[in-house]
Amino acid sequence: MNLILMGLPGAGKGTQAEKINEKYNIPHISTGDMFRLAIKEGTDLGKKAKEYMDQGELVPDEVTIGIVRERLNKDDCKNGFLLDGFPRTINQAEALQDLLQDMNETIDYVLHVDVPEEKLVERLTGRRICPTCGATYHVVYNPPKEDGICDKDGSQLIQRDDDKADTVKKRLSVNIEQTKPLLDFYEDKGYLVTVDGNQDIDQVFRDIQSKIEK
Ligand code: AP5
Ligand code: ZN
Repeated sequence: MNLILMGLPGAGKGTQAEKINEKYNIPHISTGDMFRLAIKEGTDLGKKAKEYMDQGELVPDEVTIGIVRERLNKDDCKNGFLLDGFPRTINQAEALQDLLQDMNETIDYVLHVDVPEEKLVERLTGRRICPTCGATYHVVYNPPKEDGICDKDGSQLIQRDDDKADTVKKRLSVNIEQTKPLLDFYEDKGYLVTVDGNQDIDQVFRDIQSKIEK
């Protein structure tokens, strides 16, 4: 199964991707995670991406398309993949169409996790992540068992640099502008499925399952 998860920052793409990956065993490909890893490792890609991410701007298309192309060509994507946070521009979506054509693959569903804008600031500023395993928590909606500590490996949770209030506002405005044309693009192709993301995490996942298992 080849899936794309779309939604504004904080809609719950990463949270649902973890669940989809566990249940269906398809690789979770998050461009945001790939950039954060590159930043942590101090590579040239990381240095380039950081300039944009810290400002809440999109990383240039040629850089982003390049890393996705490389990733999709790996063997583990032959039996399906889950793209999270890509594509984010029409240019990226068109590049993905070409890439899939070369691979002889098509998209099964574009899952749009829809959450009202006014909910997103609270979700983002309350998010905490595990620097070791990448698990995502929320101080109110998805707290760890022990305050500030990852359930899976005991690491101290941290806040993402771009989850500070000022950057959050910029990220939202950049993404709101890009999203509408992308939704239209996939609606026209008949791939788009909208899921109400303004429900508790498990209910959102049940809705996703019922749509993709139809
Ligand atoms: P990226 O990492 O993709 O960030 P994003 O799109 O801004 O999305 P988030 O990770 O912030 O949110 P999410 O939807 O995954 O929400 P989550 O599940 O964590 O990108 C970061 C940056 O990288 C971009 O700004 C850009 O610079 C660059 N980049 C990445 N891809 C790019 C591309 N294709 N092109 C160019 N640049 C790119 O949930 C959020 C919080 O809410 C969590 O605390 C969670 O616990 C909580 N939560 C989740 N679901 C629920 C629920 N149902 N109810 C209550 N709380 C919930
Ligand atoms: Zn962890």
